[in-house]
Amino acid sequence: MTDDLVTAAKRNAAIRAVDLVESGMVLGLGTGSTAALVVEEIARRLGTGDLRDLIAIPTSSATHQQAVLSGIPHGTLEEHPVVDLTIDGADEVDPDGNLIKGLGGALLREKIVAVASRRLAIVVDGAKLVTKLGTRVPLPVEVVRFGAGAHGPAIRALGAEPVLRRDRDGEPFRTDEGHVVLDCRFPTGIDDPHRVVAALRARPGVVETGLFLGLRPEVIVGRAS
Ligand code: A5P
Repeated sequence: MTDDLVTAAKRNAAIRAVDLVESGMVLGLGTGSTAALVVEEIARRLGTGDLRDLIAIPTSSATHQQAVLSGIPHGTLEEHPVVDLTIDGADEVDPDGNLIKGLGGALLREKIVAVASRRLAIVVDGAKLVTKLGTRVPLPVEVVRFGAGAHGPAIRALGAEPVLRRDRDGEPFRTDEGHVVLDCRFPTGIDDPHRVVAALRARPGVVETGLFLGLRPEVIVGRAS
């Protein structure tokens, strides 16, 4: 698929997801290129008056900035601990609605907001649908900076090869919470995602993984035409 068709599919998914939004909602705003189209569409509908009285909870500083620039009223989980609906993207979706997220680096805040949400809608283009998680993208694992290198042997024992994510300047990528990310490539995908989560989360210094399991999202797959 060309880039234009992928963007068209993402926009289609974004518009259909925004149809789920009702005036007065506390609305979680995801992160990434598809979520950015959601924010754009919400701003448009607030402008036309089709939506009103929303309070957005952004899942990253990037999305927060977009919401501010778009004039979308926003708040925090401290003020609004229960979110009516969150719309977010994903990097992989399996047939049971389990996800890999975090290629954009916002996995920790995204998971906090997703778990605080009554409903979760995931907007993707069809290329994100996989039969087995970990076959298309590496699994992002957010860890504290101290001892980031010490996770290597345990991650290799799970069958993956970790790579410290770097930014455009070649420096270790920092998340909004100041942590670093290990991108863990599983050569033949992740056979037992629950086991991988349990093994990683048991390690001191691991903050969160990009495996979003058992959240049962409504998955909206965009169509390019
Ligand atoms: C951000 O941390 C990710 O979880 C994104 O939701 C994911 O990378 C999807 O991004 P795109 O919509 O840009 O593919």
